[in-house]
Amino acid sequence: MILEKRDAFSLQTLQNLPVAGEAAPMLREYVALLPVYRGAMKLACTKLEVLDDEFRMNYGRAPVHHIESRIKSPESILRKMRRKDLPLTVEALRAGVRDIAGIRVVCAYINDIYCLAEMLLKQEDVTLLRRRDYIVSPKESGYRGLHLLIAVPVHLAARRETVPVEIQLRTIAMDSWASLEHELQYKNAAELPHQFADQLRMCAETASVLDRNMQSIMQQIDEMEG
Ligand code: GTP
Ligand code: MG
Repeated sequence: MILEKRDAFSLQTLQNLPVAGEAAPMLREYVALLPVYRGAMKLACTKLEVLDDEFRMNYGRAPVHHIESRIKSPESILRKMRRKDLPLTVEALRAGVRDIAGIRVVCAYINDIYCLAEMLLKQEDVTLLRRRDYIVSPKESGYRGLHLLIAVPVHLAARRETVPVEIQLRTIAMDSWASLEHELQYKNAAELPHQFADQLRMCAETASVLDRNMQSIMQQIDEMEG
């Protein structure tokens, strides 16, 4: 089930943007591309829902807890382009910001993440552009998740475009940690003092122990049931 769709971006929000100025021409071109990115996001979401549905029919439980999807806001796009020191052109935007269409898949168990990723990447119209496994190699912050950057074809009236979509796969525990950590970081404009970074990393470890224990319990029950 797709729980949340944060996609309140239209020409009107663009007109209300205080940034305008030098970024305005690029953002106007970007608005024209929205059907392409929205289309890619919907296609990828549907693929994940189909896999979830089939798995549920076959094994009697759903690997996907919920899916969130969003189109990156103009503010967030500009922040990223400035951070990466990109010129404010639509070409640089398309090449340098590859998470315009973003999907977060929150799974029940760690194994479900790898299983879904494998099933998705096997599809012939899905191309893997980048894979980052922050579950095997967590980030310095403690962050965990499997990040896939894929490309899917979107058919328009007169052409076909291959469009990047960023998919973040997390367990419920990883997602809880990331949501709260993000909120704490966001609340504090300055970087958090070291002691908190250490505590947050320990919380991520705790979440990871929880994930492994829950998975082990699930597997034992599975084996009991034969
Ligand atoms: P960006 O340029 O920020 O997109 O980085 P990237 O392209 O190298 O992608 P990366 O694989 O690092 O993933 C970035 C995304 O992962 C962020 O937008 C967050 O959603 C998530 N993420 C990565 N690290 C952290 C973290 O330490 N805390 C939280 N809460 N989220 C994180
Ligand atoms: Mg990213």
